[in-house]
Amino acid sequence: MVYDRDALFGKLRDLLGPKGFSTDPTALVPRLSDWRGRYHGKAAALLSPASTAEVAGIVALCAAAGAPLVPQGGNTSMVGGATPDASGTSFLVSTARLNRIRSLDAAAGIAVCEAGVILAELHEQALAVGRRFPLTLGARGSATIGGLVSTNAGGTQVLRFGPMRALVLGLEAVLPDGSLFEGLAALRKDNRGYDLRQLLIGAEGTLGIVTAASLRLVPAIGERAVAWVGVETAPKAMTLLRHLEATMGEAIESFELVPRSALELVLAHVPGTRAPLATPAPWNVLIEAVSPMSAPGPEPLLYEGLRSALETGIAADAVIAASEAQAGAFWRLRDSISEAEKQDGPATKHDISVAVEAMAGFMTEAAAAVEARFPGTRVNAFGHLGDGNVHFNVRAPEGAGPAWLEAEGEAVSQYVHDLVTRAGGSISAEHGIGQMKLAELGRLADPARLHALRAIKQALDPKGIMNPGKLVPFEASSHPGESGDL
Ligand code: FAD
Ligand code: MLT
Ligand code: ZN
Repeated sequence: MVYDRDALFGKLRDLLGPKGFSTDPTALVPRLSDWRGRYHGKAAALLSPASTAEVAGIVALCAAAGAPLVPQGGNTSMVGGATPDASGTSFLVSTARLNRIRSLDAAAGIAVCEAGVILAELHEQALAVGRRFPLTLGARGSATIGGLVSTNAGGTQVLRFGPMRALVLGLEAVLPDGSLFEGLAALRKDNRGYDLRQLLIGAEGTLGIVTAASLRLVPAIGERAVAWVGVETAPKAMTLLRHLEATMGEAIESFELVPRSALELVLAHVPGTRAPLATPAPWNVLIEAVSPMSAPGPEPLLYEGLRSALETGIAADAVIAASEAQAGAFWRLRDSISEAEKQDGPATKHDISVAVEAMAGFMTEAAAAVEARFPGTRVNAFGHLGDGNVHFNVRAPEGAGPAWLEAEGEAVSQYVHDLVTRAGGSISAEHGIGQMKLAELGRLADPARLHALRAIKQALDPKGIMNPGKLVPFEASSHPGESGDL
């Protein structure tokens, strides 16, 4: 793709002014690598629009010139989704200045947020009016609404409320030709054909730039009870979930699996953390139960459920947090796993799902198979067991350096993804495809899925300007904007 750089720079500068257009390396460079430090790119300039109209102007100018655009929110992508390629031709579009909560209607339970609103900010503002946005994750201090929408993020409350797809009631987005999709109205019923809102959710910036979203709010909780429970095996953790659901129903909002290896990584690398149980258990589960405002708190029921689980041998040990501070400390252990693993050394990351009831057995067998096939590796599988989704990460053998990842990483990932595919599962449960899993999606997806992905991309972005090289695996000769063939 070749465009007249000076002419386009001039037009974009005129459109955005000095606050919205920058080639300053101090602003640009930190945005050119991903959170894990695995991907590094270059960009022609950083564009920071402050309104939907400016986004539409950027996309129209770049579409006319054939210049690629890479949308970026908090840059916490786990798959290199917001990192441009190395050509230096792309414009990085930051949503940092699109940061207004346009409205917060407590009675209707709807917040209209611009794309750059940070998740933690929405949590805070919703709480101030007695509501909450029921999706959270470890990166909530940086991840933005636009990024969460565009990755269909999951997190630690999916069990009860579902991922972003279930929480986005309306969307506003600029499509690849610069036109505006005005879909913010939170319609409960709308049958005007293909659902563009759902198409844009999880599109990873390949079909346009999300500028705002109408989001579902639910009533704020009254009380919560947070427990750390030791179990002997992953299947027993699943039995525990079903046992607690039978006694507490929807009160169980989070059920996160933490293997002993993950807890040990956190204790080793994250200052101020301590093990919740006196005797380490092979597996741990972090459970959060909640109650509505002015209803009895959930702790007595959780206590009862855990007591019977201990008596019947489902659980091995358990502690309920005695204070909000202790509850926060338990959550910190869970939320710090990725950071601790990153500090510890190389690991291949896999974000996999299989049918919910099959996951505990699958991950146990898959871990044994991987460790036998790649001697010395250590599987660290943690996360959202109740959703059938774990982060099945494979740590390098003790003492191995970054070279291990180069030499073995691809073979390990292919092995894991083959096992998942054979089990009818997904190689991307919540992080998306980005650039990290592009080749694997191309290798493993069935032809119908691949054809549909390519056809949709080609139809909506024929010039291939929106986040090229992400999500949609094209054969070398058939990228949009090149031959045009599917
Ligand atoms: P970015 O990283 O900036 O972008 C992500 C993708 O969305 C890119 O493809 C980008 O081009 C596109 N994009 C961003 N903004 C827009 C926009 N306005 N319009 C169109 N496209 C856009 N993810 C989970 O699902 N569950 C978890 O539990 C979870 N935990 C995490 C914990 C940690 C510590 C970290 C670092 C990450 C975690 N993630 C998790 C991954 C990540 O936080 C999510 O994918 C999040 O949705 C990304 O938001 P972001 O604003 O940082 O997006
Ligand atoms: C998590 O659940 O902690 C995240 O999705 C991050 C990760 O997979 O590393
Ligand atoms: Zn996760």
